[in-house]
Amino acid sequence: MLAENRLHPSDFIWPLFVCDGRDCDEPIGSLPGVSRWSIDKLGAKAREAANLGIPCIALFPNTPTDLRTDDAREALNSGNLICQAIKAIKDAVPDIGVLTDVALDPYTSHGHDGIVDIAGNVINDDTVEVLVRQALVQAEAGADIVAPSDMMDGRVAAIRAALEDEGHQNVAIMAYAAKYASAFYGPFREAVGSLGRLKGDKRGYQMNPANIEEALREVELDLAEGADFVMVKPGLPYLDVVARVKDAFGVPTFAYQVSGEYAMIEAVAAAGAGDRDALILETLLAFKRAGATGVLTYHAVDAARLIS
Ligand code: PBG
Repeated sequence: MLAENRLHPSDFIWPLFVCDGRDCDEPIGSLPGVSRWSIDKLGAKAREAANLGIPCIALFPNTPTDLRTDDAREALNSGNLICQAIKAIKDAVPDIGVLTDVALDPYTSHGHDGIVDIAGNVINDDTVEVLVRQALVQAEAGADIVAPSDMMDGRVAAIRAALEDEGHQNVAIMAYAAKYASAFYGPFREAVGSLGRLKGDKRGYQMNPANIEEALREVELDLAEGADFVMVKPGLPYLDVVARVKDAFGVPTFAYQVSGEYAMIEAVAAAGAGDRDALILETLLAFKRAGATGVLTYHAVDAARLIS
């Protein structure tokens, strides 16, 4: 009766990894309980989520190795895994929201989120041009929300302008406005096949974990450029950032409970050192207490089941 915050299935965005092939359910070693699914399996997954009251699915592809190139051209292929996945989900469950990642890392041979120069530095403006085309390809395939997670400067304005020009006024932009160069992304990189490929690190474009004022500046810029709402990432170690962003801007502020956070909870539970269900619900409730509008979490379906 006196609880100040509550969890509801509508708080969750459920990420799904997509792989090539048919009838595939490929477990991901470092994410116990999470698989990559082939396109033909996605309709059932979307139905499962919708039946639990989860409003939105986020999609991430494990692009076949031979399609990964320095210029990430597969990201612009309107028949790529993500576009097929969007259509499969929209055909099966028209009402569930589909959010797609705008970033090049699942498509590049070097695992970076953008185009790199000879020295291995990401070239901001060349990358933005590709990201704009990637976002348009996703919008044309039926994505409801495009989510730039690349952390290039100026990409939100460029994507918004292109969406308007091409008749996609109703496609929303969720900006990964404050995305930190985190050690918690390892299992995700295994899942999308970029783990062994990545040369160097992403500190040239992702944020320094020491900074919070910079996060506010990043959010301010993305909102000014036309972002409809924002994401803070990772989640639990950055709840202070979630709280500051929500207080400062009052816009819908989501948090990404990232792969390493999921893996920590599963590891504690597997070691018999903690109650899995309680760990899931406590951590998700902490996001709500910090002011998050919702949480992108690999535990979305588990959590929705636990609370319904
Ligand atoms: C990059 C991207 C990352 C994640 C999602 N998109 C991080 C990265 O590789 O730098 C990580 C999400 C997770 O760990 O669950 N575009």
